[in-house]
Amino acid sequence: MICSSRTIVRLSEATRIGVREGECLATSATSSAKEVFDLLRDDLQAIEREFGKETLSDVRVITEIGEYLRAGGGKRLRPALLLLSAKLFGCHGSTPIRLGVVVEIIHTATLVHDDIIDEADTRRGRAAANTRWGNSKCVLAGDWLYMQSFKIAVQERNFRILDVLTDLTQQMVEGELLQIEKLGKTISEKEHLDLIYRKTACLFSVCMRLGGIVGGATPEQEEAVSSYGRNLGMAFQIVDDVLDLTASEDVLGKPVASDLREGKATLAVIHALDRCTGAERKQIEKVLQDRAFNGVTHRHVLDILEHYGSLDAAMSQAADYAAAARKAICIFPDSEYKRALLWAPDFVVARNS
Ligand code: IPE
Ligand code: IPE
Ligand code: MG
Ligand code: MG
Repeated sequence: MICSSRTIVRLSEATRIGVREGECLATSATSSAKEVFDLLRDDLQAIEREFGKETLSDVRVITEIGEYLRAGGGKRLRPALLLLSAKLFGCHGSTPIRLGVVVEIIHTATLVHDDIIDEADTRRGRAAANTRWGNSKCVLAGDWLYMQSFKIAVQERNFRILDVLTDLTQQMVEGELLQIEKLGKTISEKEHLDLIYRKTACLFSVCMRLGGIVGGATPEQEEAVSSYGRNLGMAFQIVDDVLDLTASEDVLGKPVASDLREGKATLAVIHALDRCTGAERKQIEKVLQDRAFNGVTHRHVLDILEHYGSLDAAMSQAADYAAAARKAICIFPDSEYKRALLWAPDFVVARNS
């Protein structure tokens, strides 16, 4: 959650980052997470309260799992984006708050399912729900959360919103399914980028689009904010995948090197595989196929990636997506909301968790 003290320290480390030369931006970015949080404080708190109310069920275990997930925190990046997008169009009422709850519940449901699929045992610095309640209950709790988010969305009586959310859910499921099919195998960069669009960037894009829809954006404006979200989401997942390779579990709050252990070749690994020697390729492929570090250490794989500049190459691609996100919203006039949106891509690329 942006307001959690654990996160605020790290967010405030994201130093003042201005607008880069050559981008058609006359507006400079907000400088810190605290400024963005201050701008959204009341709405984010309202979203927290609504989330709590909307995950109550007569079946106690659902309420327990829902509350455990909500209380676990998280950056609340997706509802923050939705709010900023709506506010960019002058929409400040309760609708963006309700839709903020919708996207955060969808995100939560996908994390529950993702941790089951990935067999992850930690999330947000504590036991993942599946390790506490087991897979069966968590699959069902995830389904319940998905449906709850749709129930809230239906209350808006707006078919476009439902259309966008239905398409999103299918894209996310397709993304995770494509990923499962590619486990243990090498994958082209194009296939990988398609996959991360579906599993992650599509939701970022939808958050921004929904803000545009409820704010009465023109089709061109709606495309601009959606493009911002898509590019930001691509940068976000690429950085997530680099952090999986380079960060420590303490800082990340979830398992590290897990992508390799799950047989997932992410962007930096794909970059190295395209350049390394036959012997190095065999070593990386062995980790992916075995889904374990049997005789080839995590350190050794990192050495190969570093040798070919693959981690830097992935980060540079993330930075390109971040720049594209900033550029996508250059059509909007200066406002505090635009400044906050210009800040987010830098935060996403500079984050360490
Ligand atoms: C995690 O997203 C899932 C990915 C798309 C990589 P976040 O890093 O936004 O998760 P929380 O909500 O802050 O825990
Ligand atoms: C993102 O992929 C998953 C979702 C979109 C739910 P990851 O599997 O990399 O996410 P983390 O690292 O577990 O958060
Ligand atoms: Mg995962
Ligand atoms: Mg990950």
